[in-house]
Amino acid sequence: MAESSSLEHPGLDKAAGEEFLQEAFQILLEEAVRKGMDATEKVCDWREPQELQELLDLELRSHGEPRQRVLERCRDVIRYSVKTCHPRFFNQLFSGLDHHALVGRMITEALNTSQYTYEIAPVFVLMEEVVLAKLRELVGWSSGDGIFSPGGSISNMYAMNVARYRRFPDSKRKGSWALPRLALFTSQESHYSIQKGAAFLGIGTDNIYLVGVDERGKMIPEELEKEIERAKAEGAVPFFVSATCGTTVLGAFDPLGSIADVCQRHGIWFHVDAAWGGSALLSRKHRHLLTGIERADSVAWNPHKMLMVGLQCSAFLLRDSSGLLQRCHGASATYLFQPDKFYDVSYDTGDKTVQCGRRVDCLKLWLLWKAVGTEGLERRVDRAFSFTRYLAEEVKRREGFQLVLEPEFINLCFWFVPPSLRGKEGSADYWSRLGKVTPVIKERMMKTGSMMVSYQPHGAKVNFFRQIVTNPAVTRADLDFFLDEIERLGRDL
Ligand SMILES: Cc1ncc(COP(=O)(O)O)c(C=O)c1O
Repeated sequence: MAESSSLEHPGLDKAAGEEFLQEAFQILLEEAVRKGMDATEKVCDWREPQELQELLDLELRSHGEPRQRVLERCRDVIRYSVKTCHPRFFNQLFSGLDHHALVGRMITEALNTSQYTYEIAPVFVLMEEVVLAKLRELVGWSSGDGIFSPGGSISNMYAMNVARYRRFPDSKRKGSWALPRLALFTSQESHYSIQKGAAFLGIGTDNIYLVGVDERGKMIPEELEKEIERAKAEGAVPFFVSATCGTTVLGAFDPLGSIADVCQRHGIWFHVDAAWGGSALLSRKHRHLLTGIERADSVAWNPHKMLMVGLQCSAFLLRDSSGLLQRCHGASATYLFQPDKFYDVSYDTGDKTVQCGRRVDCLKLWLLWKAVGTEGLERRVDRAFSFTRYLAEEVKRREGFQLVLEPEFINLCFWFVPPSLRGKEGSADYWSRLGKVTPVIKERMMKTGSMMVSYQPHGAKVNFFRQIVTNPAVTRADLDFFLDEIERLGRDL
């Protein structure tokens, strides 16, 4: 009885909810945005996992908590999280915060819809098409197709799947039974998602032919040709080449024109993983790095990296405009894609993807683009290049810093050589000792919370820093601080 009378009233207090929202919004603005972007605040408040577990009191209980306690929890979540918008966060290929893009993300969350049908996302279906068309135009295509996907890794997997389907349409129904041994080709410097994709799609990682690179990490087209011949001699069918524009560690751009020639000669799908470097297309000064991209069959491009749109925003772009994407992935679920709807069902674009529900990823980019224009985006890209140039010159000028290679893009790779190792390059244990310096400096910066930058070993090269600056809120003072801080943290090693 009591249960049924409770159905007369809403099961949620809207007024209290709005009050909570307003207070939470103030916390968000103050703690995540204002303090997050403030250079005098910490980038992270590092805690060991055990301590953090206790501080956060993560356990979920049968009773709810009072509003003030929940608001405190919001504060704690922000406090102990890494501030990727901080002007001294140089750790990832994404960083910074654009206020317009953030509002786009908030509206997306508030509206909480799925991108699959016009019926449920009329604005976003139209918007996605416009944004994708704009990205395709920058690639150099006046027509084509595409979809926003959950990240560059997935965009690369889409490319493999579509390429396989175009060559072997029966594979959709018959699976591996319809297929010979397939071979795909990518450089030794390519992103690991190619490995994951080959495993996930049943192609097999043994069937990836890793193509040799030059000293800057660029694929050597002659080596590609040799690997294709080798695969054929081994009885495999070469079907897919993935070139990279902006490799993850070194920031190398593969020579697209020559690779396109090889693909054309052998009738192989040409994919470009421009997840990282694609945004250079916005710069009239730097877009030459991607010359030849217009000859690709497909492109992966992540605006969530260099354009600061916010995770996630990855475009999978296709030159084909015959409906290949739809044919490859479509399942025509009648409960969602009813053919007899009252509107033009060609606007129900969701069957092009392998997902059902799909986040709206276009609004944040569209709103940012509306706010700053193509020129504003171009300025940001150019600014990132200029910062990297400035840092590279500083690294060359300062004692104890050594470039791993001259940057062509915005990946700044360098070692810090502490005073104890300077002038000892000839000694037998020099490199092994140098390799131990970088992780210690990283630990120290994390524990003081002063900044964050990533490091890795790479091939025969011992641990070095890879610094990335995409955040337009960064100033020269932040970059000077960055190098000074490395010196300060590593001087006694
Ligand atoms: C060259 C390249 N491709 C693909 C990816 C994967 O992108 P995502 O992290 O969005 O899956 C990355 C990520 O850093 C990358 O650097």
